[in-house]
Amino acid sequence: METDLLLAVVMCVTALIAAWWFHLLLKWSSGGHRRRRCELTLPPGSMGLPLLGESLELFARIPSLQVVPFFKRRLERYGPVFKTNLIGKDMIVSLDPELNSYVLKQDNRAFQIWYPESLKRILGAVLEVTSSESLHKRMRTMVLRVFGPENLRLVLLRDVQRAARSNLSSWADRPSIELKEAVSSMIFSVTSKLLINYDASTSSAGELWKHYDAFTNGLMSFPVNIPGTAFYKCLKGRKNIMEALKHMLDERKKAAERRETMDFLDLVVDELKEKPVLDEDFCLDVLFGLLFASIHTTSTALTAALKFLTDNPKALQELAEENEHISKGRVGASSEITWEEYKSMKFTSNVIHESLRLANIAPMLFRKANQDVHMKGYTIPEGWTVMICPLETHLNPITYTDPNIFNPWRWKDISEPIGGSKDFLVFGLGLRYCLGADFAKLQIATFLHCLITNYRWEVVSGGDMVLSPALSFPNGFHVKLIKKT
Ligand code: HEM
Repeated sequence: METDLLLAVVMCVTALIAAWWFHLLLKWSSGGHRRRRCELTLPPGSMGLPLLGESLELFARIPSLQVVPFFKRRLERYGPVFKTNLIGKDMIVSLDPELNSYVLKQDNRAFQIWYPESLKRILGAVLEVTSSESLHKRMRTMVLRVFGPENLRLVLLRDVQRAARSNLSSWADRPSIELKEAVSSMIFSVTSKLLINYDASTSSAGELWKHYDAFTNGLMSFPVNIPGTAFYKCLKGRKNIMEALKHMLDERKKAAERRETMDFLDLVVDELKEKPVLDEDFCLDVLFGLLFASIHTTSTALTAALKFLTDNPKALQELAEENEHISKGRVGASSEITWEEYKSMKFTSNVIHESLRLANIAPMLFRKANQDVHMKGYTIPEGWTVMICPLETHLNPITYTDPNIFNPWRWKDISEPIGGSKDFLVFGLGLRYCLGADFAKLQIATFLHCLITNYRWEVVSGGDMVLSPALSFPNGFHVKLIKKT
């Protein structure tokens, strides 16, 4: 009995000592953390509500193409660099051109790519895996074999204009077409042919397109994975697409004959044959991402360009004059746009840059600090995320006079931002500069040329543009095409 009592006393004392030590340890570590935070000088800002942070305010819909109020208010209160909590994560927001450029140029060094969990779940491993330099390089080389300058000149210019001409001619018979959807479907037919030799007009009657549509519609939805929700359909769409792509890859691996014109799937088969740098799942994720990037981004840019032109008869007139001049100089009415003609479309190119500047297609770019970074009097602590918001750069009145006005003529005096610049982040900057930038611009220019030289259009309904914070057309943009006589 006495021994039991003694044991209990010893245990209690030990527990008390342990608790005391634990308490001291906690005090020491939190003091250290506080000290570290003080030493680090975080930018000003508020972390908002528990769990929700300040997310609700950011994702509110804005019915005009202006600096999003969430940023405007903080810009006035804290300046262009501030801290906040969004989508459950403490982060530093940069609206500062120098800091943006520094962060993006430090990819795979002081910073690395980072994307929110929900987006990773949707887009697959690509975002994470490409933080490895060698894999990233390999991926870029493969993608450029399809979308690089040589293929653009020799194959894509021809394929894109054929698709544009045939789609336009089929739309001209209809009382109304919704432009964003029609253009997305046209772009999908071109890209899926290039990537997987997919004939969207026949194969499984556009099954893949249907899955992509479900996927895209749920992309911006609240991430609740319950049957019936848009997010559930989005993930299901992705699953169906991945299964279809895997099936196509397996079939291609079995095929004995080598095809004459290589698509991306052939490059994947070659990659997987001997000592592959990239594995099969990664390649399929890249394929998925490329199809998605090509459909969603370029179609939004093109629809926005058509809306801006509809509202700006002077710009439309000058665009028509440039393209008709090129078209009339061509021998034979049905002959195709040449590379030299494409390169001579200066005003068309200005229209494209101006539309992209306003259209906010990639509204946020994320990077994570690999080390403490000191800049602009603040510290971005190691492990913290930086969110870069290109729209604020594109609406900076110091760089762009009357920034909210669609003014393609402004590009006459600004040198073309090849490879991106701190003032033009539409396609990113640095190591991860968009691999489809030239392809996207070529598609828009070609489509505009084929449209404007042969048709005019009347607005049937819709066309309102909303930022939330990416650009969307909540009521669509319905137009009627009329063949010019
Ligand atoms: C108007 C159309 C487009 C816009 C505005 C756009 C925008 C961007 C931006 C901002 C990035 C950089 C992302 C970052 O730094 O985190 C990017 C990367 C990328 N884009 Fe695009 N994109 C467009 C069209 C396309 C198309 C058509 C393709 C392919 C067919 C494509 C393929 C890619 C790829 C593969 C990357 C990743 C590059 C890397 O990590 O090295 N994009 N895009």
